[in-house]
Amino acid sequence: MKVSVKVQRMYKNSQWLFLVALFGIITACSGMPTSNVTTINSNGNTNSSELPKIVTKQGKHALFVDGKPYLILGTQTNNSANYPAALKYVWPAVKKTHANTLSIPIAWEQVEPVEGQFDFGFLDILIKEAQENDVKLTLLWFATWKNNAPHYAPSWVKLNNQRFPRVMKKDGSLLNSMSPLGKETLAADKKAFVALMSYLKANDPTHTVIMVQVENEVGTYGSKRDFSPLAQQQFEQPVPAVLLNGLQLTNTGNWSQVFGKDADEYFHAWHIARFCQEITVAGKAVKNLPINVNVALRNPFHPGDGYSMGGPTDNVLDLWKIAAPDIDLLTPDIYFRDHKTVAKVLDLYSRADNPLFVSEIGNDQPYARYFFSTLGQQGIGFSPFGLDYTDYYNYPLGAKKVDDETIAPFAENYKLLKPMADVWAKLSFEGEVWGVSEPHDSQMAQKKVWNAQSTQAQKNEYAAKQEKSAKENAHKYTQNLDLGLWNAEVTYGRPMFWVAPPTGNTPSSGGALIAKLADNEFLVTAYRARVTFSPSDEIKAPYHMVERVEEGHFENGQWIFERVWNGDQTDWGLNFTARPHILKVTMAAYQP
Ligand code: DGJ
Repeated sequence: MKVSVKVQRMYKNSQWLFLVALFGIITACSGMPTSNVTTINSNGNTNSSELPKIVTKQGKHALFVDGKPYLILGTQTNNSANYPAALKYVWPAVKKTHANTLSIPIAWEQVEPVEGQFDFGFLDILIKEAQENDVKLTLLWFATWKNNAPHYAPSWVKLNNQRFPRVMKKDGSLLNSMSPLGKETLAADKKAFVALMSYLKANDPTHTVIMVQVENEVGTYGSKRDFSPLAQQQFEQPVPAVLLNGLQLTNTGNWSQVFGKDADEYFHAWHIARFCQEITVAGKAVKNLPINVNVALRNPFHPGDGYSMGGPTDNVLDLWKIAAPDIDLLTPDIYFRDHKTVAKVLDLYSRADNPLFVSEIGNDQPYARYFFSTLGQQGIGFSPFGLDYTDYYNYPLGAKKVDDETIAPFAENYKLLKPMADVWAKLSFEGEVWGVSEPHDSQMAQKKVWNAQSTQAQKNEYAAKQEKSAKENAHKYTQNLDLGLWNAEVTYGRPMFWVAPPTGNTPSSGGALIAKLADNEFLVTAYRARVTFSPSDEIKAPYHMVERVEEGHFENGQWIFERVWNGDQTDWGLNFTARPHILKVTMAAYQP
C-alpha cells in the first residue's frame, strides 16, 4: 500500500544554508553598535585587520574573529610555559588536541623586570610560532594577582610592601595577596598592561591574539577583605550609588549598613573589580580586544567561606558586572569533576550579560564530556588546562600524566567540531542549540576496579553489580530535550540495535549536540550516545516519521552530502559511537 505523506517541513534542505549566510549579513547590518559593524565580503570572508570582538544580540553572544562568529577549541598551557624554550613542548600538544586557540601566560615579571624597561621578546616568538601553527592566542596577564598572590609581579613590586601594600588581616598580619586599594599597584600594573596592549597594537596587525585575560583568578584566600587602616577608612564610607542603583537597593549607608554579613566580601570584590575595570579600560583604549577575568570558583552548592574572596564568584557576579562593565566575560575555571556541579556552574556563568567561556577545566578524562554541555549553554569556547608536554601534571585537579591517552578525549571533541566550528558558532548565535554531556559520574567507581590489587574475580563481581544497578536506574542515563515541535531523547550505553535500557558508558564519556536548522530539521552529532526524535504535543497530525537522515560534513561552511542513514541506522534511534558522524535530520508528520 502506498502511503501518502504530507510533509510539514517548513524549510527545504538548501534553504538553511541560505539562512546562515543571510544571518551574517543581517547581524552585520543590525542590532550591533555602529562602531562594531562587521562588513562581510561577498565570499563570506572578512578583512583580517578587523578586531576580534564580543557581539551580543537579544541575550545571545558570539566571539567575532575575522568578522565571523568563532568557536574557541582551546587549550591552556601549564603555568611556566611562557618562555621561548618551553614552546617546543606546547605546539605538538596543541596539534594533537586539534585545538584552534592556545591560552598562555604573559607575566609582568618577564616584560618589566626593571621598572619602566619593557621587553616583549617572548611575544615576538610566540606570535610568530602561533601563526606558523595556525593557532589563535588568548594571553593571560599574570600580574598583581595570580591565584591570589603576586608571584608573577616583578621583584621591585613584590618586595616593596610600602609602595605596593598587601592585604592586612583583622589581626594586623599580612597575607601574600595584594590590596586592591594600593593606588601605586594599580598605576604600575596598568602601565605595564598598556605597554602590552601597545605592543599588540603595533606588532599583531592580523590579531593572532584574540582575547586578553586581565590577571589570573583574582581574589584573596584567608581574609574576606583588606583590614588595613586605609581599607577600614574606605569601608566606613557610603556604598557607591552606582552599585546601589545597579543592585536596585533602596537602603543607603556604609558597607556594613547596606550589606550586613556580606559587607566584607562585597567590599573586597568591589575594589578588585574596579581595579580590573581600570586596567581593562586603559588597555582597550590602546587596542580594543575582548577582555576576560577568570574565576577561582566557589562550590555553588556548598560554598563555605574558604574560597578566594573578591573574585567574580557566583554570589558577586551582579556586583562585578556593575563595577566592571568593560570586562567582556567573567569566565569559570572548572575543577569540579561531577556532572551536577559542572552543570550548575555552566548555568551560572552563561547569562544575557555574560558570554560563557570555560577558560580552564581539568585535563582528565571525566572533564572532556563537558565540552558538549558548554556548547549547549551557547558557550563561545572551552579550554582545558595544562594540555602540554612541559612535564607538569596538576592531579588531583587534572590528570596524573599528559600523554596521548590523556589528550585523546579532548582531541576527539575538537576533531568532530573543528571542520564545522564556524557553522556551529553561527548557529549558536543565530538560532537554537542544545548540548548535553553524559550525566552520571563513573570515575570514582572506576578507580576501585582500576586498583592494581583487585583480582579479576573482584573486577567481574563489581562489573556485574554495576550493570544491575544501572539497569534499575536507566533514567539516570537519559536526557530529554525540548526542541520545539520535536523532542529528543539522549541515552547512553546501550546496544545500537533494539531497545535495551541505557546503562551508561564506562567511563562516562558521552555527549550530544543538536542545532535547529528549521522547525523540522536538525543538525545532530554525538559520541557514545543514542539520539531519538519524537513529536511534541504541538504536532497535531497523528503519524510521524524520520523523513530523512543525511550524513555529511562541512567544508568551508558548505554541507557536503555523504550518504543517507536508513533501516537499522534509524529504526532504533540514531546511534553514535566513538567515530565522528554528523547528521542532518528531517522529521515529518502526516495525515491518514
Ligand atoms: C587555576 C589557575 O588559574 C591555573 O593557573 C593553575 O594554577 C591551576 N589552577 C592549577 O594547576
